[in-house]
Amino acid sequence: MAIKNDAESLPSHEEKRKKRMKWAAYIAAFAVFQVLVIVVFVLVIMKARTPKFRVGTLQINSLETTQAPSFNASFVALIRVKNNNFGPFKYDSANVSFTYGGVQVGEATIPKSKANFMSTKKIDLDVKLSADKLPSSANSTLSGELKSGVLTLMSEATLSGKVEVMIIFKKKKSTKMNCTMEIDVTQKLLKSVKC
Ligand SMILES: *[C@@H]1O[C@H](CO)[C@@H](O)[C@H](O)[C@H]1NC(C)=O
Ligand SMILES: *[C@@H]1O[C@H](CO)[C@@H](O)[C@H](O)[C@H]1NC(C)=O
Ligand SMILES: *[C@@H]1O[C@H](CO)[C@@H](O)[C@H](O)[C@H]1NC(C)=O
Ligand SMILES: *[C@@H]1O[C@H](CO)[C@@H](O)[C@H](O)[C@H]1NC(C)=O
Repeated sequence: MAIKNDAESLPSHEEKRKKRMKWAAYIAAFAVFQVLVIVVFVLVIMKARTPKFRVGTLQINSLETTQAPSFNASFVALIRVKNNNFGPFKYDSANVSFTYGGVQVGEATIPKSKANFMSTKKIDLDVKLSADKLPSSANSTLSGELKSGVLTLMSEATLSGKVEVMIIFKKKKSTKMNCTMEIDVTQKLLKSVKC
């Protein structure tokens, strides 16, 4: 009886084959899963994206205008560097140029620093503007804007640096700022900013 039972409990040839097939399927599924993990890793984590660089807002401390026409202004520009990489964006110092009608009316320097892993670096920049250097060709536009009470400024800059993913992979990235700001002259407030 005991011998017969042992013989019956031995898996048949067919059962062995099914078991092997099952294992082969598990191994294949695992291999596919591994490939997917690697693809996601390369596409999502390792990819160096261009950080976003813009003016968030302006806190205007002073704004004087004359009918000459001319203006002087002093404000704090809140600059934002949005880094959506899985690693820090380390950038060099850069100059932000503020222009009126294509002519520079002020400049400020962003110090060398970094924007951390998946975060937005906020930089307070003290800026002084003077329309003293504006050519007379800008007079009519400027006097028109001062009469309407809305002053249009632009800011331009390029931030160059490196995105570091997984500590060892470094990729050069540069990001440009190109913002248009409308300032309400009578209320001394930022009306709008488009970047
Ligand atoms: C701007 O400032 C300069 C020097 O500080 C001065 O000469 C000029 O009159 C000022 N202009 C206005 C519009 O206040
Ligand atoms: C910023 O401008 C100053 C002078 O206006 C210049 O000396 C400096 O090299 C500039 N910095 C950069 C990063 O371009
Ligand atoms: C423009 O304004 C300046 C003073 O800011 C004045 O000297 C110049 O004559 C003006 N030019 C014109 C064409 O109105
Ligand atoms: C900046 O943006 C303005 C429109 O908002 C566009 O006319 C201009 O060409 C842009 N400049 C650069 C350097 O991209």
